[in-house]
Amino acid sequence: MNILITDITQLLTLKGPKAARISKNLSELSIVKNAALYIEDEKIKYAGKESDVIKRIPKNDKHINIKANGVVMPAFIDSHTHTVFARPRLLDFEMRANGKSYLDIKKAGGGINRSARDIKEASKKILAQNLKYFAQKFIECGTTTVEVKSGYGLDLINEIKMLEVVKETAPVIPLDMIPTFLGAHSIPKKFSSSKEYLKYLKDKVLPAVAQKKLAKYVDIFVDDGHFGIDESVDYLEYAKKLGFIARVHCEQLAHSGGSYVASMVKAVSADHLDFADSNDIKRMVKSGVSAIFLPASNYFMGVLKYPRARNFIENGANVVLATDFNPGTSPCWNMQFVLSVAVNYMKMSVEEAIVASTYNAACVLGVNNSVGMIIPNMQADLVVMDVKDYREIAYYFGDNLNKITIKKGRIVYDKSNTF
Ligand code: NIG
Ligand code: FE
Repeated sequence: MNILITDITQLLTLKGPKAARISKNLSELSIVKNAALYIEDEKIKYAGKESDVIKRIPKNDKHINIKANGVVMPAFIDSHTHTVFARPRLLDFEMRANGKSYLDIKKAGGGINRSARDIKEASKKILAQNLKYFAQKFIECGTTTVEVKSGYGLDLINEIKMLEVVKETAPVIPLDMIPTFLGAHSIPKKFSSSKEYLKYLKDKVLPAVAQKKLAKYVDIFVDDGHFGIDESVDYLEYAKKLGFIARVHCEQLAHSGGSYVASMVKAVSADHLDFADSNDIKRMVKSGVSAIFLPASNYFMGVLKYPRARNFIENGANVVLATDFNPGTSPCWNMQFVLSVAVNYMKMSVEEAIVASTYNAACVLGVNNSVGMIIPNMQADLVVMDVKDYREIAYYFGDNLNKITIKKGRIVYDKSNTF
């Protein structure tokens, strides 16, 4: 049924060009106060001042009426997650609390390889159950589109298993999932070098993933103790020839050249970037590489060195925020928390953080023609936040302030119906 939302204190439309918002435009929310909006089927039909919207609705129209008494904004778009995993890494968590570093934990048999052992043992049924549970959490917190990576399989069978779980679960949950192949996440023990493992991925796994159409992007972890510069460029160039779009995990553990790789292959994004310097930033901007910051992982890892968001913004980068939801470095599905960390530790404004986690994220995922703005004809993917002023979303941290999630014109979460 169609939906009319009234009593909106602030409607954040993000109205503007259908392109990434950079520099000053990153803070433009295009707010309408005392607003209403009307959703017909899957799409937004009218959005604006309440008096104007009400006038356009026929007298006997049948619709659901929601009184927002709060802020309405585009639903979050989480452009970087590792949402398929078998179980939490609680041993790693304890080790870190005892002062061990990410690389110490990896050497002791923990880290990504621990999640890979868990994936091998888990059935598709269990992984799908977990994925549905996490999908529910994303939806409750106001996220309606996520990118989902493989990368805990680390061999042909298990990487395909992870991606098939995403594909098979997608039709039964109201969350759009865009898959990424991240076979090059860690080097399994049975390979003697990163080079040998990348050759295996190129020969055996990438062609199978391409043939089965299981992923849109290919990602690689270029960092200390993981993959090197030249081999990563070669790998991503090969993946591009098979039709994948490149992405890179980089500059998370050290300044190790991954953002250079991203620029060389014209990747759509370089993600993390804690150690990226001004040369890296300029090179990325020149090559059209978007910067995806994942500050919940810095928080969880106790890393006080955050990416230099202000430098990126001043240099005109497309800046994006995401959760990096994963069992090792960021067990967080709530974009509202990410906004809070971005504002407090990366000195982004709340306005910038909102655009970076909605419209700009849509641009990276190639879905910006349909979601990320609240204007007529866009798909109705939006949330009603239990706040009067949008700045409260990043201010009252640690809670879930979302009260209603609408996906493709359908109410998929309503807090008032849960208890
Ligand atoms: O984005 N950096 C590499 N990958 C993940 C961590 C994965 C894990 O530890 O399980 C990240 O932080
Ligand atoms: Fe990640």
